[in-house]
Amino acid sequence: EPPVVVVPKRVMEEEEVDDGKTKVTVFFGTQTGTAEGFAKALVEEAKVRYEKAVFKVIDLDDYAADDDEYEEKLKKESLAFFFLATYGDGEPTDNAARFYKWFAEGEGEEKGEWLTKLRYGVFGLGNRQYEHFNKIAKVVDDRLVEQGAKRLVPVGLGDDDQCIEDDFTAWKELVWPELDQLLRDEDDTTVATPYTAAVSEYRVVFHEKSDMSAEDHSLTNGHTVHDAQHPCRSNVAVKKELHTPESDRSCTHLEFDISNTGLSYETGDHVGVYCENLSEVVDEAERLVGLPPDTYFSVHADKEDGTPLSGASLPPPFPPCTLRKALACYADVLSSPKKSALLALAAHATDPNEADRLKFLASPAGKDEYAQWIVASQRSLLEVMEAFPSAKPPLGVFFASVAPRLQPRYYSISSSPKMAPNKIHVTCALVYEKTPAGRVHKGVCSTWMKNAVPMTESQDCSWAPIYVRTSNFRLPSDPKVPVIMIGPGTGLAPFRGFLQERLALKEAGTELGTSILFFGCRNRKVDFIYENELNNFVETGALSELIVAFSREGPSKEYVQHKMSEKASDIWNLLSEGAYLYVCGDAKGMAKDVHRTLHTIVQEQGSLDSSKAELYVKNLQMSGRYLRDVW
Ligand code: 2AM
Repeated sequence: EPPVVVVPKRVMEEEEVDDGKTKVTVFFGTQTGTAEGFAKALVEEAKVRYEKAVFKVIDLDDYAADDDEYEEKLKKESLAFFFLATYGDGEPTDNAARFYKWFAEGEGEEKGEWLTKLRYGVFGLGNRQYEHFNKIAKVVDDRLVEQGAKRLVPVGLGDDDQCIEDDFTAWKELVWPELDQLLRDEDDTTVATPYTAAVSEYRVVFHEKSDMSAEDHSLTNGHTVHDAQHPCRSNVAVKKELHTPESDRSCTHLEFDISNTGLSYETGDHVGVYCENLSEVVDEAERLVGLPPDTYFSVHADKEDGTPLSGASLPPPFPPCTLRKALACYADVLSSPKKSALLALAAHATDPNEADRLKFLASPAGKDEYAQWIVASQRSLLEVMEAFPSAKPPLGVFFASVAPRLQPRYYSISSSPKMAPNKIHVTCALVYEKTPAGRVHKGVCSTWMKNAVPMTESQDCSWAPIYVRTSNFRLPSDPKVPVIMIGPGTGLAPFRGFLQERLALKEAGTELGTSILFFGCRNRKVDFIYENELNNFVETGALSELIVAFSREGPSKEYVQHKMSEKASDIWNLLSEGAYLYVCGDAKGMAKDVHRTLHTIVQEQGSLDSSKAELYVKNLQMSGRYLRDVW
């Protein structure tokens, strides 16, 4: 054993250093930052426990530039952890997509046992309400074993529907005994230092407003690449209500102007929208934080001398701004607080009773009460802060540990660049519901869209930072291939884009294959969105047949899947001709039911037994002819 050399922290993290310490790599595939936060939290805790090891936290995308580099570098790893979130229809996060494609679906699969040096653990982040619960974590875990790696602990199945922090804590308890064996000296008989999560905190600098330039650093118009970190300011050009006045709900059609922005998109892509909290919500947040709204400040993740702050994960700082702006744009105050947020509030509660109660809610003993009083009641961070008025954390704590960052909302783009090259259309149902605790929850982005002021109404129109996220939801490259589209409610959105594209092709003289669309809504007179346009697609031949299910007109519910059953033989014939089948909309109910119906249609029409039918549907999926854009 080479002697243990004490290396300053910053140098320790450099790759080249080999001082006999075991290197542990912690990978994350994250979309909203939770997986990244867990990865960092694991490392913070592990650093305290194991002085003999060097830990690195790595974004899967940053790890390697291409497949060969993934291979070359992974081969050298001996101890690794993977934090992997699963999204939408069982998909990896954007930053894990390249790795996943290569490692789990591509050539990584056929390499035999080439990772025999590696010991690893996987923790997945998913939601049990969805069909492909933690698929990415499970698949990567299986592949790692197939390729010769040694699994240290069972794959952790974090469930965001319940309390994912508890799942993480339970999984960590399995990890420590394994790491104790690998990373502690045999003669080290001391008990590992118990770790208590420290509340992490930014360094805050207060500014005179006049010191700061008024420009908004978060916007990067002029950047050549726009992504989640570099959204682009885009004006609201057009806004329309799509429901008739009889409706007790609302659905907004919005058009973002992307001319001269450098943004572009393809039919079937998604748009990420960074919206602001409603002003009434910001008022309330200001009151609860208890500082003047015009406080001008900046947050920093490093010390004044530039060295990183110790402590657990800090989300990237936002640009200097007023407290009001920070609460409007960067703080998610309507979601239920995590247990770590309760502990951060407890640490700053001046009333000891409040501090005790907050700590209890975050403790294992308070598990049931947390599940009931916070999760099931959908109690927002603001409601919790209201209930604990003495808990007034300083800004550095509030933005680092109490309020998570407000995340962009994603929408399936409902236009085609062939029809609307300078506009991105969005079709957005208003979220407006009463929570079990009696609060009226207004969806952050859908309410913002409903209230947006379009250019057609004012020069001083609404705008939002947006960016385009590519999807694999695409029309077949050969326009003669038939398409079957199933999209009730706002699930219609991408199909409006598809049909615009087909209409443009048709007008350019291209010959089109058959296309049928199953749409569903409550009532023809109330929420049959884009009715005239859809009829026009039929008249012009962009759409061969429009089939609509109205769920609240007759005595019984009529859903898209009922209409599919009625059209079973047509669907089967089109599939036999090589049709592509698309489903868009609600994943928890509709997409599951449609999937079952598809299975039945294949089984009955194809005279197959259930397992053959399953194989048939699976093949459709594998060959990219059964695509789903579900949420
Ligand atoms: P409902 O609200 O009357 O139950 C768009 O939201 C349409 O989808 C509505 O007509 C809605 O009907 C319907 N819908 C609700 N649940 C569904 C499911 N599991 N499968 C298909 N359609 C569904």
